[in-house]
Amino acid sequence: MRSIQKSQNKSQGAKPEKRKAIGARFVLLRPAGYPLKSVFQEHPVVSDSKLFERYAQEQWYGEKLFYGCYLFDSRLYPDFAFQVVKVYPRSSVMGGQTTIKVEQKEAPKNKVQYDVHFEDVVGQETAKKKVKIVERFLADPEKFGRWAPKNILFYGVSGTGKTMIAKALSAETGVPMMAVKSTSLIGEYVGEGARQIHSLYEKAQEMAPCIIFIDELDAIALDRRYQDLRGDVSEIVNSLLTEMDGITSRKGVCTIAATNQIDVLDASVRSRFEEEIEFKLPNMEERLALLEKNAATLPVPMEGVNLKEVARQTEGFSGRDLVEKVLKAALHHAIMDESNITQRHLEEIIPNAKKEYRQPPKEMFS
Ligand SMILES: Nc1ncnc2c1ncn2[C@@H]1O[C@H](COP(=O)(O)OP(=O)(O)O)[C@@H](O)[C@H]1O
Ligand SMILES: [Mg+2]
Repeated sequence: MRSIQKSQNKSQGAKPEKRKAIGARFVLLRPAGYPLKSVFQEHPVVSDSKLFERYAQEQWYGEKLFYGCYLFDSRLYPDFAFQVVKVYPRSSVMGGQTTIKVEQKEAPKNKVQYDVHFEDVVGQETAKKKVKIVERFLADPEKFGRWAPKNILFYGVSGTGKTMIAKALSAETGVPMMAVKSTSLIGEYVGEGARQIHSLYEKAQEMAPCIIFIDELDAIALDRRYQDLRGDVSEIVNSLLTEMDGITSRKGVCTIAATNQIDVLDASVRSRFEEEIEFKLPNMEERLALLEKNAATLPVPMEGVNLKEVARQTEGFSGRDLVEKVLKAALHHAIMDESNITQRHLEEIIPNAKKEYRQPPKEMFS
């Protein structure tokens, strides 16, 4: 549980007084994005307000509420903030009876939170086929019974579309996805991470059908031999194993986990996945397709550019590298030059981008 009360509150003179805390009767929250991470701006959609109310009461129980303060989510959307825009009575705290409303201007009902589609994903055919099955299951969980797809592992080089496919699955099916970064589960207190896993699955169950996406799985489910690198996370692993085993059956919940480093995963966790799907670096044709798709959305026109040549020179680049390191950098250079994007802008970038490109430091684990 975390709440950072921004210094601006002090200047507004809204500093809460020291007196016995009263539970708030009402609080209105405005989704404020990621004030500490300006590059990442997706808004969670609160589709079940009663469920959110319980989630919020539990997470921010006892937090002081005053106009302008931020409540930071540390579970489903780590670091996403809600700003208090109304609270009654003034300077009260979050309590078990607090009525919570969230402003939802940009999030009309039933609108899915991600705007990514399967057709945007280049290559990764095995993963696409598998998620098609998950899609069928999510449309009719009853039909699959005990044959339901349950735990799927995406692995492979960073930036190859693992997160993207999971988001597309959620977008295409309209089924909510609860995304959690493993690193955010490693809390300050013993038992915190394990509890978070449990409540994550409980909530997914209430929302079912629902997808749970666990990113950077290696951060918690590291082979025991390497665990001293990350501290004791065994309680989190055990909690995850219990949920994945489905001792308490979680109907309509499908877990997708992703890792860049499958070799260092804990064997017992790894064995719980019914399927491991590898994400590979794009080949020549896929690089070209990636470049073409993304180039079509650039805000500055290209002039005399041969993308085939760019694809040829970018062997070993991931989808993310092509988008972030090549196209985006070329765009920025062109903007600085006040010109269109040219072949020269692209080709100047490639050698430097390649230098930066490194495989994960395997020697760390050998
Ligand atoms: N196969 C792909 N098809 C289309 N775009 C891709 C692909 N792989 C990566 N990208 C681009 O790179 C970005 C990062 O990919 P991401 O799914 O986050 O990678 P990962 O989760 O495997 O590290 C995506 O948002 C997309 O712009
Ligand atoms: Mg990812």
